[in-house]
Amino acid sequence: MTPGATMSDETLSNLLHEKRTFAPPASLVAAANVTQADYDEAARDRLAFWAKQAQRLTWAEPFTEVLDDSNPPFYRWFADGKLNAAYNCVDRHVEAGKGDKVALHWVGEPLEDTRDLTYADLQREVSKAANAYESLGVGAGDCVAIYMPMIPEAIVAMLAAARIGAIHTVVFGGFSAEALAARVEDCGAKLIVTSDGGYRRGAASALKPAVDEAIQKVEAVSPGQVENVLVVRRTGQEVAFDPSIDTWWHETVDSASDQHTPEAFEAEHPLYVMYTSGTTGKPKGIKHTTGGYLTQAAYTHWAQFDLKPETDVYWCTADIGWVTGHSYIVYGPLANGATQVLYEGTPDAPERGRWWKIIQDYKVSLFYTAPTAIRSFMKQGDTVPASYDLSSLRVIGSVGEPINPEAYVWYRTVIGGSGNGGEGTPIIDTWWQTETGATMMTPLPGVTAGKPGSAMLAVPGIEVDVVNDEGVPVGDGQGGYLVVTSPWPSMLRTIWGDDERYVDTYWSRFKEQGYYFAGDGAKKDEDGDIWVLGRVDDVMNVSGHRLSTTEIESALVSHPMVAEAAVVGATDPDTGQAPVAYVILRESAGDGGADIAKVLSDHVRSEIGPIAKPRQIMIVPELPKTRSGKIMRRLLRDVAEKRVVGDTTTLADAGIMDLIAAGAATST
Ligand code: WT7
Repeated sequence: MTPGATMSDETLSNLLHEKRTFAPPASLVAAANVTQADYDEAARDRLAFWAKQAQRLTWAEPFTEVLDDSNPPFYRWFADGKLNAAYNCVDRHVEAGKGDKVALHWVGEPLEDTRDLTYADLQREVSKAANAYESLGVGAGDCVAIYMPMIPEAIVAMLAAARIGAIHTVVFGGFSAEALAARVEDCGAKLIVTSDGGYRRGAASALKPAVDEAIQKVEAVSPGQVENVLVVRRTGQEVAFDPSIDTWWHETVDSASDQHTPEAFEAEHPLYVMYTSGTTGKPKGIKHTTGGYLTQAAYTHWAQFDLKPETDVYWCTADIGWVTGHSYIVYGPLANGATQVLYEGTPDAPERGRWWKIIQDYKVSLFYTAPTAIRSFMKQGDTVPASYDLSSLRVIGSVGEPINPEAYVWYRTVIGGSGNGGEGTPIIDTWWQTETGATMMTPLPGVTAGKPGSAMLAVPGIEVDVVNDEGVPVGDGQGGYLVVTSPWPSMLRTIWGDDERYVDTYWSRFKEQGYYFAGDGAKKDEDGDIWVLGRVDDVMNVSGHRLSTTEIESALVSHPMVAEAAVVGATDPDTGQAPVAYVILRESAGDGGADIAKVLSDHVRSEIGPIAKPRQIMIVPELPKTRSGKIMRRLLRDVAEKRVVGDTTTLADAGIMDLIAAGAATST
C-alpha cells in the first residue's frame, strides 16, 4: 500500500480478497449504447474518437484542431471552435421539437410541493435570467456566485450565466458565510444569486443571512466588488433586505423578456470555477472551460448510464454545489436532452422511504448517488426500500469515495434487485474528481462485469495507470499512485489565478513522464482491473466531500484558546472518513473548561461549515513530531482508529505517543 493512503489495513485486505463479479444483464447488453467496439475505436485513435464525441454538441463554428498540446500542461481542446453551453443544454432541444419534453421533475421537500419544467419552460426562464443579469451589468467574463438550495432557479441561474459568457461559481449551501466570502472574493464575483432559504429536514432553513454576512466580509477587503444580490423567494421567511444591493428574482427576472439570443463563445472560454480543498488551507478554484468539458460530460453521462433520452428518467442525488451536480445534473443530462428528477430535501424527510418513494412515483430508471448515503440506508435495514416498487431501475451509480463491497452488494441486491426485469441492476462505480470534470474510470453497464469496490477501467478515450514512485507502471497485483497519462477534454485548465499552483499540484510529481497526479492511491488486481484506495495526501473524504486537514487545522488555530492543532481523517463506518482533531491549548486558556470540545467544534462549523466538524477533539499536551518538526499524522491516525500505535522511532520525543494514547482512551 502507498505510504499515507487512508484506508485501514483491514478494509484493504477485505478489498483484495473480494472476488465476486456481477455480469451485465443480457437485456441491457442487447441494446447497449456502448460496446467493446467503442473501446477499440478509441484505442486506435483517441483524438479522432473525441472529435467524434464533440459532434454530440451543436457548434456555432466548427473546430479544426482537436487538441493543442503545444504548451503543456496548459492543454486546449477544440480551441478554434465556438459554441454556447446554454444553447446546447436548452434551446437546441426546443428547436428539435422537444420543447414539451420534461427537463426537470422538481420535487420540493414538503410533500406535494412539486413542479415540472419542460425544455421550453427552461428556455424561457434561462432567457429571462440572462436578460436580468445583463440589466444588472453582468457580461462575458464576469463572475456570478450562486448560493442556493436545490430548486429549479439554481439550474436556471447557472445556465443564464453560461448563456452570456459569465463564469459561475456555485458555493454549496451548507458552507458558512466565511467560506462563501472567501470564494466570492477569490473569483471576484460581482453578482450573488441566492434565496431566502430552502427546506431541509422538515423545516425552512435560511441562506440569505449568510450572504449578508459574507458581503460585509468581502466589503472589508474588496469594497464595491459585489454590486447586486438576486434573491429567490422560496420559503417566504423574513429576510433583511437592502434595496441598494438586494433585488428580488420574482421582480427582476420575472419581468424580463423571455427572448434572448445566445452568443457563441470560444471552446476555451471559461464556464465555471468550482472550489475544492487542497493540501493547504486555501481552497483551490478549479477552472473548467466550455467545449471539452461539455463534450466529456455529455459523452460519459450517455455512456455510463446507457441513457435512452426518450424513455429514461434519471436522478442524481448530489447537490449542485459540488462538481457532481455540475456535470451530472446540469451539463451532462441537459446537453443530452434527458428527463430528470431534482430533489430539494434530505433523504429521510418526512420519512425514511422518501428516496424510494420518489423512484417509485417518477419511475426513475437511472440513479446516481454516493456510498455514504448507501451505507446509511443499509443501516436502516431492508424493509424500508422493500415496501416500494423499484423495478424501474436499469443502471445505478456510485461516486465520491471507494464503495465498500458490503455496501455495493446491498445496493445491487436490495435497491437494484428487481431492475431489468429481475435480472438485477448494474452498478457503475465512477471514479473522477472536481479537477477531471467528468468520469474517468467506470465499468460500462453493457460491457464490463462489475467487481464490488472497483472502478475497473478507464472510459473509452481516457488513459490512466497506476505507477510507482519512479513513475513506472506497476504490475498486476501491485499498488501505487493513480495517474492520468494523457490529456482529456474535460480536464481542469488551471487553478483560478494561480498557474504555478496548478503546475505544482498536479504536474510536478511525475513531471518527466508528463502524467497528471490525481492524489489517490490505487491497486491493479490480478486481472489488471483498478481499485481506487483513497487519498495519499492530506486530504480526507467525508461523506464524499473533500476536506483538507490543513483547512480544518487553520480553522481551529484561529480560535483564541488554541495554540496548535493537528487533524487526521479517521476511518468512519458512516461517513467513510471523519475528521479527528488533536489540539494544544494556549497557556492562557488553562484546561479550556468542561465544554471545550463543543466550543471548538462550533468554531469549525462557523469557519467552514457543518461537514467539517471534527468527530472527536482531543486536548493534548504535545503533538508527535519528527526531529525536523513535521507532524506524524500516521501515528495520530492510529490513535483515532484505535489501533496499536505504529513505529515511533523517528519521533523527536518518543514518550509523547504514550501520553496521547492514554488521553484518547479516557476522552469521549
Ligand atoms: C476524490 C475526488 C467525483 C465527484 C465527487 C467527488 C474520491 C471519487 C471515487 C470512486 C474511489 C473516489 C477520490 C478522488 N473518489 N470517486 N468511485 N472510488 N474514490 O469529487 O471532491 O473532487 O473528490 O474523491 O479520492 O480523488 P472531489
